[in-house]
Amino acid sequence: MKFFIDTADFDEIQEAYRLGLVDGVTTNPTLCSKAGCHDIAGFQEQIKRICDLVQAPVSAEVLNTQSEDMVPEARKLASLHEQVVVKIPMTVEGLKATRILSNEGIRVNVTLIFQAVQGLLAAKAGAAYVSPFIGRLDDINHTGMEIVEQLLTIFDNYGFDTEVIVASIRHPLHVLQAALAGADIATIPYKVLMQLIRHPLTDIGLEKFMADWQRVQRS
Ligand code: G3P
Repeated sequence: MKFFIDTADFDEIQEAYRLGLVDGVTTNPTLCSKAGCHDIAGFQEQIKRICDLVQAPVSAEVLNTQSEDMVPEARKLASLHEQVVVKIPMTVEGLKATRILSNEGIRVNVTLIFQAVQGLLAAKAGAAYVSPFIGRLDDINHTGMEIVEQLLTIFDNYGFDTEVIVASIRHPLHVLQAALAGADIATIPYKVLMQLIRHPLTDIGLEKFMADWQRVQRS
């Protein structure tokens, strides 16, 4: 399973990259605003900076909602760097834009997927990636991971190349479930990435090893 990092914060991406845990990056307008991008120029600069660092797919989301506006905006984003993947929302207008852009060879990540058939439609429109938001489904008492399993089955049934990005990950168990389901990619917030590394028994075990070694040195 590929590990993407779900943030626009450069320091977080850099730290995860040094750990070898960045096969790609996903951003959205909320994450970009949290990372201090307050205008289009700042947003585009941040995307270029991230692309230069990771040399891997970086999803950048359009800020328009009508296809005639999304398409030129997406072309501009794609021209920023060869690693840019354009993120398009799963709407009627988004589907129209996805078809046009994928026909031009621009990679599209269709986002805000909350049921498997939306992902099927996105794949049929030529999306390179679909992003089911599992945490937000869990929040409203659904089992988000079910649509990941359904999407993987559907894409396998019909031989789609579209990759499933498990998004809206909230905790390490989501990552485990994504891997067990055979998801192509999990996009993981920095905090959860760090939680994956640490375990209290590892810390306790290491402390004991060090203490035992120190005791031998003193005797
Ligand atoms: O990749 C999508 C993700 O950023 C949404 O996460 O936590 O806002 O539901 P969340």
